[in-house]
Amino acid sequence: MGKPKIMTILEIIVAPDPRLKVKAKPVDGVDDDVRKLMDDMLETMHSAQGIGLASIQVGDPRRVIVVDVSGTDDDPDPLCMANPELVWTSDEERLHEEGCLSLPEHYAEVERPESIRVRYLDETGEIRELEADGMLATCIQHEMDHLDGVLFVDHISSLKRGMILRKLSKAKKQAEAPV
Ligand code: NI
Repeated sequence: MGKPKIMTILEIIVAPDPRLKVKAKPVDGVDDDVRKLMDDMLETMHSAQGIGLASIQVGDPRRVIVVDVSGTDDDPDPLCMANPELVWTSDEERLHEEGCLSLPEHYAEVERPESIRVRYLDETGEIRELEADGMLATCIQHEMDHLDGVLFVDHISSLKRGMILRKLSKAKKQAEAPV
């Protein structure tokens, strides 16, 4: 029997914020400290009803992502990845309307490879390779982008990006303004 897990819900950084532009650094391996980050990120993602989360979004500059595209009706099927890298991408692309916990209530269509092969370290530190397509492939690529300081709005027109970021910035100022 393992130790009971104590998980913490972390604060998700909302754009625009310079911390979301940071390029994350690879982990040396998956130790208890990295596993704790993975667990906390999963808890944070599930509590926010997200399907993916990257370390950069909780202000931790280590290359870790978590995804779970199983949906609320199914059993959870979480994936934790450290140092994920794409070793293959298909020529066929998939257009999907993406959202992001760091850009709440904003969505835009982004085109990415339809199928991928990703290599990563799992929560036990094993090197794994996973072939994914559809929603899972889109989600993994979106989260991996975060590790390089890239948001889904960086894939759309500067006009639309500017509009979304201005709205988020305005909402932040209103939230911070004294009553
Ligand atoms: Ni995101």
